[in-house]
Amino acid sequence: MKLINSFAEYQKHYDFSIENPEAFWADVAENFLWRKKWNRVLEWDFHKPEAQWFIGGKLNITENCIDRHLPERANQTAIIWEPNDPSEEPRNITYQELFHEVCRVANMLKAQGITKGDRVCIYMPMIPEVAYAMLACARIGAIHSVVFAGFSAGSLIDRINDAGCKLVLATDGAYRGDKIIDLKSIIDEALEKCPTVERVLVAKRTKSKVNMKPGRDLWWEEEIRNVSDVCAAEEMDAEDLLFILYTSGSTGKPKGMVHTCGGYMVYTNYTFKTAFQYQDGQVYWCTADVGWITGHSYIVYGPLSAGATTLMFEGIPSWPDMGRFWHVAEKHRVNIFYTAPTAIRSLEKAPLSFVRQYDLHSIKVLGTVGEPINEEAWHWYHDNIGRGKCPVVDTWWQTETGGFMISPIANITKLKPAYATLPLPGVQPAIMDENGNELLANGVEGRLAIRFPWPAMARTIYGDHQRFKDTYFSTFPGKYFTGDGCKRDEEGFYRITGRVDDIIIVSGHNMGTAEIESAIDEHSAVCESAVVAYPHDIKGQGVYAYVICYDKPHEEEKLRKEIRELVAKIIGPIAKPDKIQFVSGLPKTRSGKIMRRILRKVAEGDTSNLGDVTTLLDPSVVDEIKGGAL
Ligand code: WTA
Repeated sequence: MKLINSFAEYQKHYDFSIENPEAFWADVAENFLWRKKWNRVLEWDFHKPEAQWFIGGKLNITENCIDRHLPERANQTAIIWEPNDPSEEPRNITYQELFHEVCRVANMLKAQGITKGDRVCIYMPMIPEVAYAMLACARIGAIHSVVFAGFSAGSLIDRINDAGCKLVLATDGAYRGDKIIDLKSIIDEALEKCPTVERVLVAKRTKSKVNMKPGRDLWWEEEIRNVSDVCAAEEMDAEDLLFILYTSGSTGKPKGMVHTCGGYMVYTNYTFKTAFQYQDGQVYWCTADVGWITGHSYIVYGPLSAGATTLMFEGIPSWPDMGRFWHVAEKHRVNIFYTAPTAIRSLEKAPLSFVRQYDLHSIKVLGTVGEPINEEAWHWYHDNIGRGKCPVVDTWWQTETGGFMISPIANITKLKPAYATLPLPGVQPAIMDENGNELLANGVEGRLAIRFPWPAMARTIYGDHQRFKDTYFSTFPGKYFTGDGCKRDEEGFYRITGRVDDIIIVSGHNMGTAEIESAIDEHSAVCESAVVAYPHDIKGQGVYAYVICYDKPHEEEKLRKEIRELVAKIIGPIAKPDKIQFVSGLPKTRSGKIMRRILRKVAEGDTSNLGDVTTLLDPSVVDEIKGGAL
């Protein structure tokens, strides 16, 4: 596989990938270690929907992420780990060490009876062991389901039960800035309601006192002592499940997106190397958490399969001070830095001295992901972190897509602030109007769909293929619907404008408004609620909740606090409403549907033109809502 090194070449590759996708991806897939080659590259039907890649191919992704690098890279650092506390020693794990660590965890899992196809939940902070855990599952063919360690017991219960996990890999606690989070007690609370979990392996991180349930909980450090540091990799079919990762839906419970071994490996590797133009020997840092798809694809699988040095950071950007990212980038001479707009906006608010005291000359490429980046943040990032010289690679993609879809190629694609620019080879975007017609011209705006499969696309929602079809393949039959709004300018460049469904993105984290509403409704004083997003300076979007109580609340502040805490307990602190307005009614149509458009306008502070309210059952609630807007 040749890396693209000019814009003309990008166009050539792109055109070829559209004319002959199978030949294009077969050529990319040649660069991996397959136990057995595929018989067919692709079979698909978006009406069913179904897509299979590299059919009949056999492989193990960990042999591609680790073993095949050993002849040349045994002593190269695979993972640089930077701890939460800057006074603690960082760790460098070489590819050779990674091999043994992963094998040991794999053998430890085997000793607990975990075999191919079993689901294993991983609920851990950002320490190297979390990467070992994921890779160890992949090595023996177990399916990992990583749950972000900021989620609370309620979220953990839903995810563990949906996947039927047999074992949980955990730690005693987690450090987060100056706080210690008691992860083990969250697990204990959750497991009361998770009948499928037989075993919990607990690694020590904070050395906090925890409760170990006899017969269920074991110490990682003790179990790992007894196992070999070599473990043969299980032979996997290209279409065998690699992992499940949950993402919020606009209705109902989170969706367990299913990713498979072969296509995911090929695609994350290709997009990592292409978009960032990764050069051998560079240090790459993605600040995401492994609990999200960005961490899966672009901290672990993409970079390691490319033989890169990937940095894992345990801490937060604001501790001990607002210069922490820049301190870490200087300390480890980071060459490629990939973060989220929400982090950029919060750091932009701090005095520039926090940036200027560090030498950031090692940085050559910048990246961003997770939500639309506003132009101001783009320029601040480009000018101050990139010294006006580094490209900003604005990668648009999703948990469902597995890897980058629309993104500049560093130093090749012309940049346009706030634009994800152009589709990567193999990606066929379509902009659709409200009636389901494709807008073929440039200079249009509509909903973003994808016309043709790509290797890392999710194959289904775990246990619910009908929901997969309904959510992604029914809006525009024959096409994958992303849920995002999108513009294509006169030049054919794409700009993602944000979600068009009831998913909101708060600090880069996707949440369903329905999930937050049902958490609020758990409060005994609450009769009904409606949640919408409003623009937030730093978080991108904030959570605005309209709440109807059975009785008019006496102490509004107290009740607000209780509701916030309840949401934090049920979902996780990231879902806490920023604003809670108590109302006596919601604007509903005669058929009982909440008119969210009105609620959104009020939450945005724009009450001048609420549009037609005559179809409402009781138009007077609108005045009350406007009057009480926060
Ligand atoms: C949004 C994260 C604008 C989008 C990888 C998408 C973006 C959702 C961008 C997926 C971007 C992601 N510009 N919006 N560069 N990247 N999004 O599943 O709304 O956590 O649908 O995957 O984030 O979020 P998810």
